[in-house]
This record gives sequence, structure tokens and C-alpha cells, in this order.
Amino acid sequence: MFEFLTWLEGSALGEAMRGMGVWSYGVFNLAHILGISTLFGSVVLIDLRLLGLWPGVAIRSIAGPAIPLAATGFVLAALSGICMISTNATEYDGNPFIFIKFPAIALGLLNVALVSAMSAWKSARTGEPSQRERGQLAVAGGTSLACWLTAVAAGRMIGYW
Ligand code: HEM
Repeated sequence: MFEFLTWLEGSALGEAMRGMGVWSYGVFNLAHILGISTLFGSVVLIDLRLLGLWPGVAIRSIAGPAIPLAATGFVLAALSGICMISTNATEYDGNPFIFIKFPAIALGLLNVALVSAMSAWKSARTGEPSQRERGQLAVAGGTSLACWLTAVAAGRMIGYW
């Protein structure tokens, strides 16, 4: 782990980040926050709907606009996060919240892949899922919410270690 962090800090990206002046980290941090809020704000809408809130609103009506927004937020958070971590990567060595945040993100992404392959999700995107499918979608929505909440909480805690 330390070898990887040392390599990242010494990379061209790390050097560029450190050479950009005092405001650069703050600007990337701002981009990170905008990415996280766009991602989480969209995901929470989809997940709460999958958990059964707003039954009068079709899942596809929420998923249509929220999925591309969530994906945009994720890309922004990931790109800005990589730039931020490369600035002083070795300082994160031994930080336990890293080992909570990144597995939570990986699980959240795995959940997206699994949900996309579910027949229940396909029914929800094209019409009305059955009662059994609604149960499966609620489990997926709860899992997703737990993963992204954990990622946000652990991400915030990294700086306090
Ligand atoms: C490849 C992806 C990512 C990388 C490399 C990354 C890296 C970082 C780094 C280096 C920090 C600053 C930590 C500090 O010193 O205080 C940070 C902060 C944070 N990250 Fe990420 N991050 C990524 C994705 C995400 C995602 C997807 C989320 C949320 C779902 C997230 C949530 C947070 C939060 C809440 C903070 C605290 C921001 C603040 O209070 O200023 N990160 N991240």
C-alpha cells in the first residue's frame, strides 16, 4: 500500500497538483463536493423509491433523469478525488477510513452492476414490477443506500484521522 501511495505522490499528476498553487487543492475539493452531492442526491432519490416511497411515481420516471446525473457525479468525484489524493498520497497511509470508503464505493458499483442485470429492474424500467420484484428492488435500494452513505461518512472522516 505504502509503495503505491509513494508512487502516486511522485507521479506526474502529483507533481502537477503540488505545482499549481495554493488555490488548486481547494478548487479540486470543491469539484469533489459537487460530484458527491450530485451522485448522492440522485442515488438517494432512486433508492428511496426502490424502498417503496412515493408509490404513485413510476420508478422509470425517477430513474430516467437520476441515473445519468448520478453517473456524472461519480465521474466528477472520482477524477477530482484521484487528483486530490495524488497531492499528498503518503499522508493517507494507515488511515482506516480509506479501507472503509473505497470498499464501500466498490460495493456500491457492484450493486449497480447486479441491479442492472436483474429482471426486476428491467420490469421497473419498462412497466410495473410485480410484488415479488418490488421486494427484490427494495433490497437492492437498501444495499445501495448503505454503500453510498458509508462512502460519504468515511470520506468525511478521512481528514479527522
Ligand atoms: C476514486 C474515487 C475517489 C477518490 C480517489 C477520493 C479521494 C478523496 C480524498 C483524497 C479526499 C480528501 C480527504 C481529506 O484529506 O480530508 C476525499 C474527501 C471526501 N470524499 Fe472522496 N474520493 C473518491 C470518491 C468519492 C466518492 C464516490 C464519495 C461519495 C460517495 C466520496 C466522498 C468524500 C467525502 C464526503 C469527502 C470529504 C470532503 C470534505 O469534507 O472536504 N469520495 N476524497
